[in-house]
Amino acid sequence: VFGLGRVGLAFLELLIQRRPPIGLVGVADSKGQLTGNLDPGTVLSMKRRGHLPAQVPRKNLLSVGRPDVVVDLMACDFASAEPSLSVMLDAFQAGAHVVTASKTPLARYWAQMHSAAESAGRRLGYSGSAGAALPAVAVARSLARADRITSFEGVLTGTTTFVLDETARGSTLEEAVAKAQREGVAEPDPSTDIEGWDTAAKVVILANTLWGTSADLNDAKVTGLVSRYRSTPGKKVRLVGSGARKGDDVSLEVAPKPLPQDHPLASLKGLEKGIIFFGDSIGRVVTSGGRSNPAGAAAAVLGDTLEIMEVS
Ligand SMILES: NC(=O)c1ccc[n+]([C@@H]2O[C@H](COP(=O)([O-])OP(=O)(O)OC[C@H]3O[C@@H](n4cnc5c(N)ncnc54)[C@H](OP(=O)(O)O)[C@@H]3O)[C@@H](O)[C@H]2O)c1
Repeated sequence: VFGLGRVGLAFLELLIQRRPPIGLVGVADSKGQLTGNLDPGTVLSMKRRGHLPAQVPRKNLLSVGRPDVVVDLMACDFASAEPSLSVMLDAFQAGAHVVTASKTPLARYWAQMHSAAESAGRRLGYSGSAGAALPAVAVARSLARADRITSFEGVLTGTTTFVLDETARGSTLEEAVAKAQREGVAEPDPSTDIEGWDTAAKVVILANTLWGTSADLNDAKVTGLVSRYRSTPGKKVRLVGSGARKGDDVSLEVAPKPLPQDHPLASLKGLEKGIIFFGDSIGRVVTSGGRSNPAGAAAAVLGDTLEIMEVS
């Protein structure tokens, strides 16, 4: 497990509570790393006291630990996709499967990541990267097998919903963002969410999952929140991420849109996320909910890990 922040610690807690039949053979934070037959409870209390010690050199962690699965839960730079990108490519080279909660490497380097997995004959799990506990990836996969999916639209970032509701109540965009930060809804640097790029990354991941494409962020037309949004009577503004396929063409878009109050994406509760898929035979399928927090993301990551290990 690389990364023992909010999601990493929640992942260790799940290992302690649920005792899945998998062993922990290595952990790393930004400063140190441990390997061996590790007890998740001991690692958790050690990490809560501070950074991990550098028990082995970082470059030897995979060769000494020899993991079947590398789980990437690191904070990942949105511009470079590092350090997650390099750790995941190294993991494939070392013959491990990879599970990640990070959207950036997939949204920027989908083709490279998948070709590395394919060359290594290993799998890549990324359920937690497109909406934490919202099972958007799993539903997309299942529907793509069952039908020809023509389009989807979703509210995939809770922060923008909070901000939009605040501006609808009369706050300026700046006041609404500041309130979201004070209440812990927005990250200290909320620009990726507010400018629409967080939603765009999830749209890219879902489109590629549905349609077998290798789109990246440059393929998405992105309009973030740029001003105060007053709701017109009977409507709520939401930041909507959408994808549509016509023949071989795929169009991806993120933009604030006024939705009727009874639209499934307007009636989501609080910070809930939701997505609607449209298909030739299935018609409309709505998936919503799932905790948008570290525990929800950790659960999605554990689910991917167990699926890859074929245990439950
Ligand atoms: N938080 C959520 O609810 C949520 C939901 C879905 C997806 N995600 C994704 O999950 C990932 C982790 O999020 P988070 O909220 O847990 O982040 P976080 O609390 O900021 O923790 C990040 C962790 O990454 C570690 N790290 C940074 N650089 C590293 C390196 N070079 N090698 C090893 N570890 C390194 C940090 O080490 P130190 O402890 O030493 O600082 C820290 O433990 C991100 O990609 C995020 O986008 C998060």
